[in-house]
Amino acid sequence: MLAKVNSAAIIGLNATPVEVEVDISSQGLPSFTIVGLPDKAVEEAKERVRSALKNTGAEFPAKRITVNLAPADLPKEGALYDLPIALGVLIASEQIRVKIGYFLFMGELSLEGKLRHTPGALSMAILGKEKKLTSFFLPHQNAKEAAIIKGIDIIPLTSLHELLDHLSETKIIKKQKHTSLENFSKEDFEFDMRDIKGQEQAKRAMEISAAGGHNIILKGPPGAGKTLLARTFPSILPKPTFEEAIEITKIYSISGLLDRESLVIKRPFRSPHHTTSHIGLIGGSNVPKPGEISLAHRGVLFLDEFPEFPRHVLEAMRQPMEDGFVTISRASGRITFPAKFILVAAQNPCPCGYLGDPTHECRDSTSEILRYQKKVSGPILDRIDIHLDVPAVKVEKLTEQKTPSGPTSSEVRKIIQKARDLQTKRFRKEKILSNSEMNNKLIKKYCQLSNESLEILKLAVTKLNLSARSYNKIIKVSRTIADLDSSKEIKPNHIAEALQYRPKLTEI
Ligand SMILES: Nc1ncnc2c1ncn2[C@@H]1O[C@H](COP(=O)(O)OP(=O)(O)OP(=O)(O)O)[C@@H](O)[C@H]1O
Ligand SMILES: [Mg+2]
Repeated sequence: MLAKVNSAAIIGLNATPVEVEVDISSQGLPSFTIVGLPDKAVEEAKERVRSALKNTGAEFPAKRITVNLAPADLPKEGALYDLPIALGVLIASEQIRVKIGYFLFMGELSLEGKLRHTPGALSMAILGKEKKLTSFFLPHQNAKEAAIIKGIDIIPLTSLHELLDHLSETKIIKKQKHTSLENFSKEDFEFDMRDIKGQEQAKRAMEISAAGGHNIILKGPPGAGKTLLARTFPSILPKPTFEEAIEITKIYSISGLLDRESLVIKRPFRSPHHTTSHIGLIGGSNVPKPGEISLAHRGVLFLDEFPEFPRHVLEAMRQPMEDGFVTISRASGRITFPAKFILVAAQNPCPCGYLGDPTHECRDSTSEILRYQKKVSGPILDRIDIHLDVPAVKVEKLTEQKTPSGPTSSEVRKIIQKARDLQTKRFRKEKILSNSEMNNKLIKKYCQLSNESLEILKLAVTKLNLSARSYNKIIKVSRTIADLDSSKEIKPNHIAEALQYRPKLTEI
């Protein structure tokens, strides 16, 4: 008899339907074959399914068993087909008689017949709903993440045995409760803005960066607090919208990085070390996995000690930084992962770290400084809107005992949220969410300058010898500053502030 079980494959971030067909024939010698482009993990399903069935008390038929994963041209990866194959064998050998046409199945089995955590549940739940399937059976460890999706029953399984009891209606499993966003309102951040002493300009620049989604680079001597400032960044980022949370969660779901939490409701903050490989940062490998730039999607990618990253790795970020996604080519076709992040880079101004510091003398020669600064290419620096010098804070300020002053992160976040809301409204007909994503056409459309502002900008361009690109960057940053000020028009003071964040001549 032939059995058909609905399952899915994960391609990039999305799930696509896979039908698991199991045929059992009495003719020929006993065998167990899987066809339809299986990878090694799928091949190994044979052993797991065989043991799981035996340990569940079912019979593993000593016949010719052929499993076909259709469509055949789609590569199948991972252990998620264990459960559909086991179920297919049981139906094809007529050990159980059930109708499962409207159900979706996935999950890795242990030899004992228990289900294991399996990546990709959220994307599959979305597919199941689209295909109008009624129930999705999956490992209980993944149930919460799938239950974000309304409109399909999520049935959590601890073992194959439990599934059989459920299908034969001996013991019905309770479906997973819908996971709502409200369940996750916890806010705990490692650092708070108020804990940073002084550094008013740096804090302000971070506020602008978070509000408009602008990339930012922090330069300063050792111990100035660059790493501390960057690590405080997540605490001022606005909450992701539901759609954004789903996008982020999908990435973490297919990367197998969702353990206890089911929905990522914080914007991610990724800080890969400079020894991270090209694949680790950009994504790829045989089974394409999202790299750090995709894991930072809708959040922050923090690259500390920026010039220490190998040049070819940084160069590979150029295209994703421009497009907001990364395309990975491999033999079976191309896969795209989203990669819209705010880049926060930190570095010293020179190898010894003290160039321009009033309290220390820089020990480097001019050629050493130039070599160091050239490690990051012009085109990469060109994609960074805010260039900031972070001087060391005076010891007296650091040791000051008086109660901390200045706004807390949650107060700053409220102001940023307001500026973001303005942008959401502004760009509702465009395909972008923040000021930093505006191209030249959109800059013309949405950034009206008063005559006075235009005069100041023109003067700056001639006096400071600014390129056309930096001209546009200044307008984008001033648009964000105006938004933080709830001002429709970009005023001269907005332009003047934005001019402070342009790259200094020595940098490019
Ligand atoms: N403004 C500040 N307020 C409170 N603590 C600070 C401040 N600046 C620096 N610190 C503290 O000083 C220490 C060094 O700061 P941090 O590691 O951020 O420096 P850095 O600029 O990243 O230095 P490096 O260039 O060596 O990486 C940290 O323990 C940090 O908490
Ligand atoms: Mg540091």
